[in-house]
Amino acid sequence: MAPPSMQTANVTSSAPQPIVLEAAEAARVVAREIAELVRAKAARGERAVLGLATGKTPVGVYHELVRLRRDEGLSFANVTTFNLDEFVGVDERDPRSFRAWMRRELFDLVDLDPARAHVPRGVGDAVELDAECARYRASIAAVGGIDLQLVGIGRNGHVAFNEPGSSRDSRMRVVELSGVTRADLANGFGGLERVPAHGLTLGIADVLAARAIRLLAFGEKKHAIVARALEGPIGPELPATFLREHRDARWIVDPAAASQSR
Ligand code: GLP
Repeated sequence: MAPPSMQTANVTSSAPQPIVLEAAEAARVVAREIAELVRAKAARGERAVLGLATGKTPVGVYHELVRLRRDEGLSFANVTTFNLDEFVGVDERDPRSFRAWMRRELFDLVDLDPARAHVPRGVGDAVELDAECARYRASIAAVGGIDLQLVGIGRNGHVAFNEPGSSRDSRMRVVELSGVTRADLANGFGGLERVPAHGLTLGIADVLAARAIRLLAFGEKKHAIVARALEGPIGPELPATFLREHRDARWIVDPAAASQSR
């Protein structure tokens, strides 16, 4: 039997303590961390590489970054960004694309070079989409990987579009969106039947390759999945559990999302 100190260490690493903050404060804390990273890299003449997510959850972080740009002169001139995912069959000029969403919430509001703001292209046949996945991963590798990855969590425990069933070693690929995910996206598309059936997503292994991961979850709608993701068995049934295996992943949740966790 392992000595008591080892047992404690195991328990701690398998069920991380979430950081509980009101959503507005969480957004400020994460935006400040990003700003510090960007400034530290700029001071060394390097580029910060940010992994970005869409959804309601990270909006506050983006608004705070826009404010830091406006009020405190934070510059994104040395920043490269990579978004996690995109819909298949939705052109980037379509307002419902994740690219268009990112432009509205962040890209067009700061001094980020559009050529360094990457979102996967979701248009093309199967061969072209596979090529896009390979090209996108190669672009991330070419800049030395992602320094800090923002992620949200779907009600079914998905990360990006890694739906339940996604393995620990999954790489960027085309996936079929689950019923829960499509239902949650139905409003934005004017009805469930109009929500794309597929998405392009970085895989779990790609997300875990980031040097730091900040998972955000807010609101009562997320409390059951946050509790299961933090405390349940690690495995493909709930892809967010794999983030517990990362050495610098922080789970930042508001009191409502934390309410079912121990
Ligand atoms: C989408 C995105 C995910 C996001 C999730 C939760 O499906 N692909 O990256 O984390 O929804 O979205 P929200 O933050 O709106 O709850």
